[in-house]
Amino acid sequence: MSLVRLDVRNFRIIEQAALEFSDNVNLIVGPNASGKTSLLEAIYFLAHARSFRTPQFEHLLRRGADELRLVGRLRRGRDPAIEVLGLRRDRAGMEVRAGGRPLRTLAELAARLPVLAIHPESHALVSGAPTGRRAFMDWGVFHVEQGFYGEWLRYSRALKQRNAALKRRAAEREIRIWDVELAAAASIIDRSRAAYVKHLREVLPSLCDRLLKGRGLGLGYRRGWREGEELAEVLASDFHRDRERGHTHNGPHRADLTLELDGLPAVTGASRGQQKIMVAALLIAQARLYTATSGEKVVMLGDDLASELDDEHRQIVIAEMQALEGQLFLTALDESVLPVVADRRMFHVKQGRVMIA
Ligand SMILES: Nc1ncnc2c1ncn2[C@@H]1O[C@H](COP(=O)(O)OP(=O)(O)OP(=O)(O)O)[C@@H](O)[C@H]1O
Ligand SMILES: [Mg+2]
Repeated sequence: MSLVRLDVRNFRIIEQAALEFSDNVNLIVGPNASGKTSLLEAIYFLAHARSFRTPQFEHLLRRGADELRLVGRLRRGRDPAIEVLGLRRDRAGMEVRAGGRPLRTLAELAARLPVLAIHPESHALVSGAPTGRRAFMDWGVFHVEQGFYGEWLRYSRALKQRNAALKRRAAEREIRIWDVELAAAASIIDRSRAAYVKHLREVLPSLCDRLLKGRGLGLGYRRGWREGEELAEVLASDFHRDRERGHTHNGPHRADLTLELDGLPAVTGASRGQQKIMVAALLIAQARLYTATSGEKVVMLGDDLASELDDEHRQIVIAEMQALEGQLFLTALDESVLPVVADRRMFHVKQGRVMIA
């Protein structure tokens, strides 16, 4: 999949841009605060309907504007047909259309444009809260298994109901009526996630050889409740504790990944640069796996890779991103840190204006 063209209106500092991209490498260069990250963020937002920098829409809307618009023209592999993906967001809500038809769920959107990003906050996948790691894992599972999103929705709805019943101190029967539904969806979610992590683990060693000079990246999976027990049993035995807490403690909503570097927890045992390299390895592994299972290429974004990676590591990360043979977007203050390849397109950004070089 590639993004052939992007039209931007009122996204961050970018008032307006109409850009035609290379299918291969796109380089975005400009001084600090010119709008380079904003441009990558716009691409990411069109694909995910959320930003990698902020959960707040207000931050994304250009100061003084009332709505933002993004229109992407997408091409799948060598298929010459173009699909138009349009997103409009104002303070009242969001509207997304593909080929003129409204999309009803974020899942429909996510399936259209697979975009992965390595950016200055990426180390949070190692050092931050479990939510980010669950989102990472679920992006992968979702793209491999069509049914996953439905199970995840079913689980989320039942959990919300059970938690609401716990909170209002409802009768035991009224609370536990949700346990069957929760346990059924949980076991499917858990099996899919565990299988996905196993596949990721198989892809990682070859990447670690180059990126981490052979150091081992240990990737573990915690499903969110005690191993060796069915969730139904755990919900039953922890019922009184859940009632005291006022929410459901156990379940796949508390799943997590554990990350180790050479046997030490990466959060304390790896440097920030190493954490960033680990995240790059995980995302590149994820992209490889996506392509292997779907036959489709991933759009990769690399924001300001020179800021925390030394020359050697940056070059290896970029080479691995290029080896995915999908579309690549890279930003930098200075083009000297970007790869020299034949089919590349260079953009200069200045005070929110993007110009092709
Ligand atoms: N909602 C907004 N409306 C208008 N301007 C904004 C908005 N959000 C951020 N900006 C401004 O956009 C500018 C560009 O930000 P951006 O992070 O894209 O720059 P950058 O080129 O990536 O810079 P750096 O090289 O420092 O990473 C900043 O000066 C910021 O103040
Ligand atoms: Mg930036």
